[in-house]
Amino acid sequence: MSFAPPPMSLLAELTHRCPLACPYCSNPLALDRRAAEMETADWLRVLDEAASLGVLQVHFSGGEPMARHDLPELVRHASKLNLYTNLITSGVLINDATLEALDTAGLDHIQLSFQDVDEAGAERIGGLRGAQEKKLNAARLIKARGIPLTLNFVVHRENVARVPEMLDLAHELGAGRVEIAHTQYYGWGLKNRDLLMPSAAQLEASTEAVVKARARFGNSLAIDYVTPDYHADQPKPCMGGWGQRFVNITPSGKVLPCHAAETIPNVVFPNVATESLGAIWQDSPLFNLFRGTDWMPEPCRSCSLKEVDWGGCRCQALALTGDASATDPVCARSNQHALVMEAATAGHDGEFLYRRFGAI
Ligand code: FES
Repeated sequence: MSFAPPPMSLLAELTHRCPLACPYCSNPLALDRRAAEMETADWLRVLDEAASLGVLQVHFSGGEPMARHDLPELVRHASKLNLYTNLITSGVLINDATLEALDTAGLDHIQLSFQDVDEAGAERIGGLRGAQEKKLNAARLIKARGIPLTLNFVVHRENVARVPEMLDLAHELGAGRVEIAHTQYYGWGLKNRDLLMPSAAQLEASTEAVVKARARFGNSLAIDYVTPDYHADQPKPCMGGWGQRFVNITPSGKVLPCHAAETIPNVVFPNVATESLGAIWQDSPLFNLFRGTDWMPEPCRSCSLKEVDWGGCRCQALALTGDASATDPVCARSNQHALVMEAATAGHDGEFLYRRFGAI
C-alpha cells in the first residue's frame, strides 16, 4: 500500500442537530441522535491526532455546530494546536455572548449560510420563522468584531434568479468572500432533486451574474462559484480526490473521505473510538477504496484527465448507477451519461421532503 500524504482539512461534524430543515441538506438521511454524539474529551483527542497527522484546517460543522455548548472549548484547543479554525454555521444561534466566546477562543473565520435574500424564500427552504433577520444580525456582529466572513448561498430552481441580489448583499454586509453554490445532489438534496434542479437557462443566467459581479466588485469581494454537475459533461474532482485532501468525521466518530460516503455499501466505516485517525487515513480499506487511479474502470483509466478529476464523485456514481466504482455519469464519455441528462430535464412537480430533526 503506498504512502498517502496527510489531509489538508478536517471537517468536524459536531452534531446533526439543526434548527433548520433545508431540503438540500448534505447530511445523511439517517442522522446521528444526540445520545450518539462524541463527548468533548473525544473531540479534543481527535484534534490532537489531526494536528499530529498534519491537518492544517479544521472546519467545525454540523447540523448546526453552535448547538454544541463545548464549541468554544474545541476552538480554543484547535487554536492552541495552530490549526486554522473555521465555523460553518447557519448563524441563528449567534448573539453577542456566543460570538464573544468564540472570538476569545481564537476562531479564525466564519462561513455563514443564507437560504435566500428574500425572507419568504429563505423561510420556505430553512423552515424557521425569523431566521433571515437573525442571520443578517449575525453577519453584522461578525463584521463588527473583525472576524473574517464568508457568506454561502446554496442556489436552486426557486432562488437562482436572485443571484445578483445575493452578491450585492454579500458586498453590503462586508463579507470578504461569497460562495454561490448550486445544489449538489447527495443526502436530502437527492431526495428533492427534481424540485431543486435549475434549468439550463437559469444556470446560464446565474453564471453571467457571477461574471458581471466579479468585474464590478474586483478584489473587494472574492466570489466562489460552484456549478451543478447535472448540466455538465465533465465531472468535478470531488473532495479533491478520494482520500487525498479531506477527512470527514461524523458526530458519532465515523471517519469518512466525504460527507456522503456512508451510502457506499459493503464497507466498514472506521471510527476514532477504536482506531487512530492516522491509521484510518493511511491504512483503512475505506480510504484506500478509491484513492489514486488504480481502481478506475475504462474509459477513466486511459483518460488524460484522470489525475485532474480523479474520477469525479463516487457517491454520485453510486446514486445514479448503483455502482460506486462506475465512471461518474456526469462524464460525457460514460455510457450512462443519459442518466444525468434525463435528470437535468425531469419534471418539477411535488412537495419538498424536509429534513426534520426536532429540538436542538
Ligand atoms: Fe462522496 Fe463525492 S460526495 S465522493
